[in-house]
Amino acid sequence: MKRRELLKLAGLTAALLTTTAMLAGGADAQDKKWKIGFSQVTTIEPWRAQFNKDILAEAAKHPEVELIITDGEDKTEKQVADVENLIRQEVDSLLVSPKESAGLTGVVQQAIDAKIPVFVLDRNVETNDYTQFVGGDNKLIGRAAGEYAVELLGGKGKAAGNVVEIWGGMGTQPAHDRHDGFHEFTDKEPGIKYLLDQQSGDWKQDQAYNIMATALRNNEKIDLVYGHNDPMAYGAYLAAKDAGREKDIKFIGIDGLPNEGVQLVANGELTATFTYVTPGAEGLRQAIKFLNGEKVEKTITLPTQKITKENAAQILKDNGL
Ligand code: FRU
Repeated sequence: MKRRELLKLAGLTAALLTTTAMLAGGADAQDKKWKIGFSQVTTIEPWRAQFNKDILAEAAKHPEVELIITDGEDKTEKQVADVENLIRQEVDSLLVSPKESAGLTGVVQQAIDAKIPVFVLDRNVETNDYTQFVGGDNKLIGRAAGEYAVELLGGKGKAAGNVVEIWGGMGTQPAHDRHDGFHEFTDKEPGIKYLLDQQSGDWKQDQAYNIMATALRNNEKIDLVYGHNDPMAYGAYLAAKDAGREKDIKFIGIDGLPNEGVQLVANGELTATFTYVTPGAEGLRQAIKFLNGEKVEKTITLPTQKITKENAAQILKDNGL
């Protein structure tokens, strides 16, 4: 491997590992035309790790771009400080995937006021003043999950069963949209009962495990779990397994990463998942397009796909797994 390639690889690894990282995409930093900052909320969840990989792979195709990635360590205060820091560094464009809407709105507004084009990714903020939003359609995904839940519980007009829903972070739009879309279908079924009242696992497997362990203790019959993401659906599955009840329950998640959700569906641990494509590559492409003087749309919606036992093996194969 050539020295330059080695350096590039080292750069990629470092960027993935360190809190604040710079990608040396083949040219020296001073040769680069655009300095782009990306404020990521956390790097510990599998979907976030994939998101960073996707944006780094896209950045590697653009030697004119210096990409700075920060890690908010899943804390609003840290992420706010990261964005303030990127503003101070006078980035040409800011990409941000917020921990939660309200807490990040002020600092996004600061960037906008400083005339920095802002690309909001995956979770929104409470202003429409940004340049563009890139993300999946969580309402649509919620609807698809709700429609499938009705089918699994006996079909339209006849569906019956006890449902555990485990929310993602309450302060995020994806959680609310995933809830609302799901209930558009399930609320029409008088036979469906909900066992929990707005319990959030904050997107985390271990928190979902605990919520489910309690739900299992309190309810003799649970028919279906809807986790707002795959880690939580899987956490619930593990709790059911530890209680010897996993065979009685269907588990639905969201994210559909090949090496995570799709694998869990192929193993028969999750019944279904829905892909939630990371906006890493598209977000960066859009920011570059905008910096090059092209017009960009206000919203870019990324596609989704239902994954069940029917297509999971094929998807794994297509991804070389
Ligand atoms: C990762 C994650 C994903 C989820 C997304 C929603 O932090 O929880 O699992 O799909 O964020 O914003």
